[in-house]
Amino acid sequence: MYTEAQTLEIKKLTEQLLRSTESMNAAAAIESLRKVLRFHEYRYYVMSDPLVSDHEYDQLYKSLERFEQENPQLITKDSPTQRVGSSLNDGFETVQHLVPMLSLENSYNADDLIDWDRKAKEITGLETVEYCIEPKFDGASISLIYENDALVRAATRGDGVEGEDITNNIKQIRSIPLSAPFSEYGIQQIEIRGEVIMSKKSFAKYNDWLTEQGSSALANPRNAASGSLRMKDPKEVARRGLEAFLYHVSYYVNRESQDASSRTRDLRLTTHDSSLQMLWECGFRSPQKEKLVVKGIEEVIKHVHDFEEMRDTLPYEIDGMVVKVNDFALQDKMGMTTHHPRWAIAFKFKARQATTKLRAVEFQVGRTGAVTPVAKLDPVFIGGVTVSSISVHNEEYIKEKDLKIGDSVLIERAGDVIPQIVKSLPELRDGTETDILFPTHCPVCNSKLFKEETEAVWRCINIECEAQVVERIIHFVSKDAMDIKSFGEANVRKFYELKLLKDIPGVYRLQFDSIGILEGFGKKSIDNLQAAIEASKQQPLHRLIYALGIRFVGETTAKTLANAIENLFDLQEKTEEALQQLEDVGVKVAQSVFQFFHNQQNIDMLNELKELGLQFKNEKRETIAAGGLAGQTFLFTGTLAKLKRSEAETMAEEQGGKIVSGVSAKLNYLVVGDDAGSKLEKAKKINTIKIITEDEFLQLVKQ
Ligand code: IVH
Repeated sequence: MYTEAQTLEIKKLTEQLLRSTESMNAAAAIESLRKVLRFHEYRYYVMSDPLVSDHEYDQLYKSLERFEQENPQLITKDSPTQRVGSSLNDGFETVQHLVPMLSLENSYNADDLIDWDRKAKEITGLETVEYCIEPKFDGASISLIYENDALVRAATRGDGVEGEDITNNIKQIRSIPLSAPFSEYGIQQIEIRGEVIMSKKSFAKYNDWLTEQGSSALANPRNAASGSLRMKDPKEVARRGLEAFLYHVSYYVNRESQDASSRTRDLRLTTHDSSLQMLWECGFRSPQKEKLVVKGIEEVIKHVHDFEEMRDTLPYEIDGMVVKVNDFALQDKMGMTTHHPRWAIAFKFKARQATTKLRAVEFQVGRTGAVTPVAKLDPVFIGGVTVSSISVHNEEYIKEKDLKIGDSVLIERAGDVIPQIVKSLPELRDGTETDILFPTHCPVCNSKLFKEETEAVWRCINIECEAQVVERIIHFVSKDAMDIKSFGEANVRKFYELKLLKDIPGVYRLQFDSIGILEGFGKKSIDNLQAAIEASKQQPLHRLIYALGIRFVGETTAKTLANAIENLFDLQEKTEEALQQLEDVGVKVAQSVFQFFHNQQNIDMLNELKELGLQFKNEKRETIAAGGLAGQTFLFTGTLAKLKRSEAETMAEEQGGKIVSGVSAKLNYLVVGDDAGSKLEKAKKINTIKIITEDEFLQLVKQ
């Protein structure tokens, strides 16, 4: 896509733009910013090899946004800023595919492939056929149309003939270019196909978020990807971290004036392989690096098995490999059925799905009092582990999946994902199945269960309910929270049963003499436990906040909260409105934090923990606050000679300084480089602003 020389040129341009755009005229700045932003999006999202930090990217993006706001007449549809749709999707229009989106024939073993190869040889009359092998991405299929190099339409597969127009949502996927230089290949209109996927990492993050919100986790990244494509709010789609692989050119029209001179690239589309190459050169993520071109089916068989062995090492899910006849002329010769092309076949990996019987449902009470039904299954082996119980989340979920005790159920385990029930198989019922009855009272403390209107879960609201107390302690000592090694779930349960531990502060009051007489506790293990407990008192504040198990406060929110305070008790002073000012803290989180810090039992517990010697101060913030620039605001203008602007900003921030976006009375320091413009003029009029040079700034930082 980019030659070395172009890369070098854009790198230089990037540095220049990061330093300053002030002396540039708007049109030139906009053009340059778009050019570098497209390049960096490509490096990040397609090549996974970024050349700038996220912070620098944001700075360039904001610059472009600012120029475009000031010069709206210069905004074009394919500007990187135009991905973010402003309006909500109002339903999705049905659209016709230019060429029907067919499915693939499946194969499951070497014999199936050998049979298929025999047919290919018969039809083509060749002794050995050349094949292209590539991953079968497990996501949602899409079709994209580009006209005169611009993305004009994106659609779901639908029934293969008609799909839904999801252009606005597709524009949120940064690895899909809004414009692509097909004209350089003499192409005026093109329809390409691919798969939208969610990486394993984004999926895990998304599921964590869902569960933190009190919703049920999704079974696999495929469902997450296809669900995301049909979301109403394009901004939500942008948040999901979707990616796309494009693997098929289904249709294209050459430009009318198709003479040799209208093409600047002479790659001919004669093979599947060359089409992947073209897509790659046009800036798409095609399986260019993943694909293999081989001769004969024996090679294919060897490679599909190799891929199956390494599937778990990939950052995304694949459910098999696709084998395609490489030569387009031969593809045409082989043709297609109404269902699939004859020139391609999917080789499906061993299923990570299995059927089993749902024998019973037990109800577990979690640390927030949520009562979760857990299905007990006849043990089955899938995806490398034996599964015998699966959470079925809540009443709605049970209804949606139509689950009954005695049912046969299809279960799935995708990669590292917790197993999920995909569906029940009602066609296998014999009439002995019974409904799953939800309890009205807590199975542990017997108090009445409650459900909020907006929620799907029933809760035990007795915060002294034993189940909740135990779960809260388990969470408190766990790895991501206070990380008290060698404590663990089993010990919490044992100590609680023996009445050696009754609440969170009790962790720091354990009677080691009493534990010493228990079976399985030697001197060494007691010493280790004691040391780990002692060490945990120094855990940073964000871990303690997370460990408290405040509803909706996950690790990220805990960090946000910790960064906003100097001492844990500062949270007691914050109103819901103030909490909502923090990044990613919404109404629900703010309410929950506020309630937690206005509950006397919680405050008593915190006082106890403080007395027991836990770290309540934000150590990191203290050093920042002690930094010479604490509380001071900075703005940079003009071209700095020694520092990149982002470096200068980080230096200020590291000393506790804050970067602001404009000149106002709140600004303390304006750092002025060469060619400073209107900001300097404006600052001169406000006499509380200190106007300093880059060298003076460096002095200030050193002090
Ligand atoms: S080619 C006309 N290549 O698998 C040929 N499909 O089970 C079109 N898929 O509907 C398909 N990875 O959504 C092709 N590398 C790949 C693929 C792939 C995933 C999906 C595609 C198709 C489904 C069939």
